[in-house]
Amino acid sequence: MVKTSAPGKLMLFGEHAVVYERPCIVTAVNHRMSVSIDKRNDEKIIVNAPEMNVKDYKISIDNLNGKYSRETAFVLTAVKNFFDKYKCESGLNVETHSEFSSKFGFGSSSAVTVSTLKALSELFNVKISKKELFDISYKTVLDVQKVGSGFDVASAIYGRTLYFVSGGKVIEEMNIDRIPLIVGYTGIKADTSTLVKKVSQEMEKEHEKINNIFNKIENIVIEAKRKIKNSEWSKIGSFMNENQKYLRMLGVSSPELDKLIFSSSKAGAYGSKLSGAGGGDCMIALASDEKRDLVSKAIEKAGGIIIPVETNVEGVRIERQY
Ligand code: PMV
Repeated sequence: MVKTSAPGKLMLFGEHAVVYERPCIVTAVNHRMSVSIDKRNDEKIIVNAPEMNVKDYKISIDNLNGKYSRETAFVLTAVKNFFDKYKCESGLNVETHSEFSSKFGFGSSSAVTVSTLKALSELFNVKISKKELFDISYKTVLDVQKVGSGFDVASAIYGRTLYFVSGGKVIEEMNIDRIPLIVGYTGIKADTSTLVKKVSQEMEKEHEKINNIFNKIENIVIEAKRKIKNSEWSKIGSFMNENQKYLRMLGVSSPELDKLIFSSSKAGAYGSKLSGAGGGDCMIALASDEKRDLVSKAIEKAGGIIIPVETNVEGVRIERQY
């Protein structure tokens, strides 16, 4: 039996632009997703995913054909991709467990995919590098959801805080300790694919305008990367505000996000923005230790739910093995 876990993530800078060959900055958070896998003596794969209401879902190895329910798609596609690539197979018991709700947008799909593939590589004694784990995990996520830059997959594998370019062209670990981040959940579930499609339609209609916005976001990411290394939080906060301005121009913010963002600024945050695809999910604010309580209260008063997070945490790891 092998049990692995991988962290959720929060996008700090560069969402949407990163789908178009630009960089982003992402930090791993201490809400983890774990997967336990055991071999079976028959040809069956049995999945239990209590948080997704999946109980004893059975499928035989021969029926791993790409058509799965939404709740089991990432795990079963990961298993199939692993069997195909490493020319091995076995019946399996797979059980997933999440420390966070998939509704926050912390990246449960990528974390479960990475945990599953890491556990399989240990179980079948296949030595794979982090980059190889990234490639097979990213392929799995694309097989299921078709779109995505892979930043969430990289974050689940490498952890910490990463400078990342689309498809894993660059995955660079940033050397920092902590980020004084406050996370406010809007209470609204966002659909990443819909928002990515919306931006791609805009890109078709107004290529130059959207491309210019992405160039501006790219500059912000590059500048923010320099300042994060030196923990220049007040400057980083103003970059967040600027990034948010461009996200609004892309049409991916929402009245609920704007309300939380506005209230955090008013309460003295260094800066704030949405995090992820937009349309709902979470916003993030940077604040000094003195202003932390005030900013958190202001976000709550504006209707947000504060989610306590530790940032910059470890990537995928083995929890138990016997
Ligand atoms: O909504 P999330 O947290 O999955 O973030 C999506 C970020 C995008 O840049 C919009 C898409 C991507 O895959 O990079």
